[in-house]
This record gives sequence, structure tokens and C-alpha cells, in this order.
Amino acid sequence: MAIAMKAFEVALHELDGNARVMFVEQDFPMNDALKGLADTYFPHLEALIKDQEFTGKAGSTLVANSSTDGITFVILIGLGKPNSVNHLDVEACRRSIGKLLKIVQCKKLKTVAMQLPSAQAFGITPEFFGQQVSSIAAMATYQFDTYLTDESRILEQDIQFNVSVKEDNLAAMQEGIDKGLSVGRAVNRARQWVNLPPNALTPRDLADEAQEIAKKYNLECEVFDRDKVKSLGMGGLVAVSQGSKEECRFVIIKHTVSDSAPTLGFVGKGITFDSGGLSLKPPMHMETMKEDMSGAAAVIAAMKVIGEFKPNVNIVMVAPMAENLPSGEAGKPGDIIRFYNGKTAEVKNTDAEGRLVLADALSYVTAHYKLDALVDLATLTGACAYALGPFFSGLFSEHEELAKKVGDAGERAGDATWRMPLTNDYKSAVVADVADLCNIGKKSVQAGGTTAAIFLQSFVGETPWVHLDIAGTAFNVPQLPYNRPETATGVGVRLLVELAMTWEK
Ligand code: BES
Ligand code: MN
Ligand code: ZN
Repeated sequence: MAIAMKAFEVALHELDGNARVMFVEQDFPMNDALKGLADTYFPHLEALIKDQEFTGKAGSTLVANSSTDGITFVILIGLGKPNSVNHLDVEACRRSIGKLLKIVQCKKLKTVAMQLPSAQAFGITPEFFGQQVSSIAAMATYQFDTYLTDESRILEQDIQFNVSVKEDNLAAMQEGIDKGLSVGRAVNRARQWVNLPPNALTPRDLADEAQEIAKKYNLECEVFDRDKVKSLGMGGLVAVSQGSKEECRFVIIKHTVSDSAPTLGFVGKGITFDSGGLSLKPPMHMETMKEDMSGAAAVIAAMKVIGEFKPNVNIVMVAPMAENLPSGEAGKPGDIIRFYNGKTAEVKNTDAEGRLVLADALSYVTAHYKLDALVDLATLTGACAYALGPFFSGLFSEHEELAKKVGDAGERAGDATWRMPLTNDYKSAVVADVADLCNIGKKSVQAGGTTAAIFLQSFVGETPWVHLDIAGTAFNVPQLPYNRPETATGVGVRLLVELAMTWEK
């Protein structure tokens, strides 16, 4: 159930594969390599390029049938034009590979030979380029097929890629490819958890999955059940989960290297289903609310890669998990609750539940660990999704250096973020008359993404902190060709892995 990718220092035509793939820049010349490809597999290549007006624009592809023995297709992939500093765009390349995989799966190709452009053209190392190519290929191949009984709808996921690279790059390239395959598999694992329906993945199930990952990679893991959560005074997690017969969970996974190494905190929202509670969502908005544990899925999946590659930083991952349902036991609008750090909030809307469970998680992790950085990921607000759409996660922070570090890691890794405002002006919007905080922002302030972030800020103290609102990016982003419609994207996994692996560089 996975792709394989191996680099060779031989020419494209010497590699095994049912297809020959080459990448070209926009307005490419008919060079020797392309002429060779044409001579061997498809004499009319140049005519076809002209006929189809294929110029190598970013995202464009050209597929030619070949009659040569065993080779059924020649595929050209457009990379677009270099930017102002003469670098090709890595994201354009990732998207092109996404398109390539759609073609490969549609044509039912099992082995693919491809020649990669040089990493230099993108201004990155061969290792990092290899990592990008293989991780995105793995992501593009994934399909949520667990519940499909009609074989004809199930796509091939075992695909072998043989890659032709320049000799001096071989070792670095293969190292990057292997790393990328691991990252891609982790992204797909996060996606699978998100895609599993709420009747198949409860807070208990997700906590079990987390525990299994920790065990496999020898990471310390603690799981608090409902009684423990109650006795610790995590009033947010208790309130959100009390309407459901499914118990809440609070999961901690730790990667520890040394006392002197920096320590990062990763926190993920784990609402396995968000009905809104008594402040019930309308049906249209409830349809996809199994996605509301995407933050938890991302941090757990990131720990899987971190457990594998053991970067030289300590990492503490925390994920509060609950199901938000209405019932006779459910929390009510007007309830006042007390969080782990002693602060209180009036719950005016039980559908603003993410900030309640995160408040306990952020309080807990900052109380117990001296963190150099804290990043939380949450499908937190529709407002952020409305503001940014599916292409950027909202990045909220008052810490300039960390905001840049996280934003840059996301940019490099393919999880794009966009900075949103977070200033003192918004603070009064979440103050309640009868408690420290109110869980919804004042109407006059609007800015729902920011007022949610401001609420969270009360629970991080002085810790350098970034909040990523992934409500718009976690699910159903078919505009990016390495995703599939109506399913999870696994957003955040690549960003967190990149941040951890490059923290001290
Ligand atoms: N889980 C939702 C946010 C969400 C919306 C995630 C769309 C993914 C896609 C969150 O718990 C929520 O319901 N937020 C409310 C907050 C409001 C009541 C202040 C919202 O955004 O409407
Ligand atoms: Mn909600
Ligand atoms: Zn929610």
C-alpha cells in the first residue's frame, strides 16, 4: 500500500518503467534529451508538442502513446518559468507531480521511469529536492478506499518510481527520497485518521492510535482518561466532552534528547466530531465535522516522523480529544467553567469548543515544560476559512521571530501559511462580565479567527507561541492536485517535521 522510489545514475531510457517522464521549463527548446526520447519512443513528439500547443507552462502535461515494446506512454510535465532570482518554483513542481500521479493511476501504470530536473534550478539541495519529489508522490497516490467495495473504484497505490539522476547527486538524492517517503506516509496516516468517519474514530480510538505510534518509535506516551482529566481540573475538556457517551482523552507524546537541547511544544485540536453541542450546527456545516481532529492528527503523524529521524530537539506533543455532542448531560450556553490554569470562561456558545479544549492543553504544556516554542494546530474557526480560503492556513502570533520561523518552514515544506493580525486591540472582545473570558468574541469586533486566537493567548503565558488555524486547509482542497476532493489534506505534518528537523539550522 505504498509507492517506492529509487534513484539511479543511468540515462532515462535505460531504466525500467511502463512510462518515460521528463520535466520541462516553459518555452523549452527541443534539446538532445527530448530528441532522444522522441527517437526511441515516439517519433512524432515534436509535432504533437506543436499540435497540442504544449509550452511547459506550470501545471501543464503532455501524454503521448508510445508503441515501443513495454513502454506505453511518454509524459512531459511543465514546470513553468523561473522567478526573479532565476529559480523554478518548488510548489509548482509539487503540483505537477500531483498531476503526474493522477495520470499514472488513471492509465494504471505500475512502474514509472522519470528524469528529474536539477535541484539547482530550484535553488535547493539535491537531498531536499528528492524529499519533496517523493513525499508529494506518496501523498498524490493516497486514496481513502477503506469503505469502497467496488474494486473498480480502487486506485493502484503500489507504484514503483525509477529516477534518473546525475551521478554526483545519487547518494544525497536517495537519502532525500527515503526521508520524503517517510514524510509522505505520515501525511497519509494523518489523512486516514481524519477521513475515518466519526463512528470509526472516537477519542479513545485516536488516543490508541497515538499510543501505538509512540510505542513503535520508542517515544514516551501518557494518556489521561476522563477521571484523570477531571481530577486535574481540565474544565474545558470536561465541558466539551460531557454531552457524549464517548470518553475524552488527553494524550502526551514526548521525544526527548537532552536537557540542554531546545524544547518545542506541538498541540493539536482533537474533536473527533463537532456537532456544535447544544448550540447545534446547521446540517450543512455539520457534514464534514469529522475533520475537527485534523490538528491532533497532524501533531501525532509528525511525531511518527520525529520518532523515526530523531532530530536533536526535545518535542512535547499534546492532543486533547473529545466528541462535541448535545444531550441531557451536555454543557450549556451560560455555563461557567474553570481551566487547568485556574482561569474561568463563560461558555456562550457550545460550538466554540476548540478553544476550550486547547485552553487546557496549552495551560498544561506551558505549566510542565519550559518551551522554546509552542505551535498549535486547530480547525478552529469558519471565519479564518472564509478569510483565506483553501490555500493558506492562518498564522497568528505576537512573536516575530517564531512567526517567521514557522511561516518559512511551512513555505519550504509545502504547507503555506498567511499571517493574520493578533494585537492587544482585540483582547477586550473575549472578556466576559461574569468570568475572566467569554468563549465567543463581541459582535462589534467580528474578526472571528483573531478573537479565537486571543482567547488561546490567555493560556500560553510568556511562551513564544504560534497558532495555526487550519479550518480552511485541512479538508476538501481539490484545487491542489496532490489532494482528492471531500477528503483530508494532512495539512501541518510537513510543516511540523520541517520545523523540528531544521530548528537549530
Ligand atoms: N470546528 C469548527 C470550525 C470549523 C469550521 C472547522 C469549518 C472546519 C471548517 C469550530 O469548532 C466552530 O464551530 N467554530 C465556530 C466558532 C463560533 C461559534 C464563534 C465558527 O467558526 O462558526
Ligand atoms: Mn465548533
Ligand atoms: Zn470545532
